[in-house]
Amino acid sequence: MRSSAKKARFEMTIDGPDQLEKLKEIGAICRDVLNAMGDRVAPGITPRELDMMAGEMLKERGAVSAPRLAYNFPGHTCISVGDAVAHGIPGDRPLEEGELVNIDVSAEKDGYFGDTGASFPVGKVAPELLTLLEATKSAQRKAMFAARAGEPLNAIAKVVEREAKKYGFRIVEGLNGHGVGSWIHEEPTVSNIYYPSHRQRLREGQVLTIEPFLATISDQYVEDADGWTLRLNHGGHGAQFEHTFVVTKGAPIILTA
Ligand code: CO
Ligand code: CO
Repeated sequence: MRSSAKKARFEMTIDGPDQLEKLKEIGAICRDVLNAMGDRVAPGITPRELDMMAGEMLKERGAVSAPRLAYNFPGHTCISVGDAVAHGIPGDRPLEEGELVNIDVSAEKDGYFGDTGASFPVGKVAPELLTLLEATKSAQRKAMFAARAGEPLNAIAKVVEREAKKYGFRIVEGLNGHGVGSWIHEEPTVSNIYYPSHRQRLREGQVLTIEPFLATISDQYVEDADGWTLRLNHGGHGAQFEHTFVVTKGAPIILTA
């Protein structure tokens, strides 16, 4: 999500096993939809076809698309292709060999929300793009395991910055993780860029997403004329991986894996 988006004021902290079960259920639905869509990514398929499949799967499982519910987004999922890095509207241009596609699935069931995303190669892609996927996935995973109760919020950005630097990629500013659980976008904003002021302590039971956006040459986004799609300011390629998890004193409880 982008930092200027409207957010609910609440900030969810799990206070019992029932809530955890509900969050696990919607998390598993988001994961299954993302995996099914990812399995079908190939040259020739259109984002709209992928999105229709997602819509059917969500309905079968009794869930509702969060971007539709919260923002009236014109699709069940966000599918961003080429220089689009987030919030892409599922369209009719078939995917082409050699490009990356990002799929972001967030949904609600029984008042609980989950949110996950991943970038996929379409057919055979350049080695640099495979490295971009590996770097972004690694940044997401390492940051999530660093997000323990008692650590400052900006411990997350510290890890994302370290991983981006290690691989020589940029971080797209203004696209962030967030609180999630009883609404799709809650406090706090989970920045991928290190700000010294973001030192509030992570708490046990807090439900967050971590979603680094790394890119080859761009470090900003611009909004497309369609009013939704966010594109890289200098073009090139971008990638995002996202999970919803519960903060603990030890390893995260990953709800969308
Ligand atoms: Co998402
Ligand atoms: Co998110």
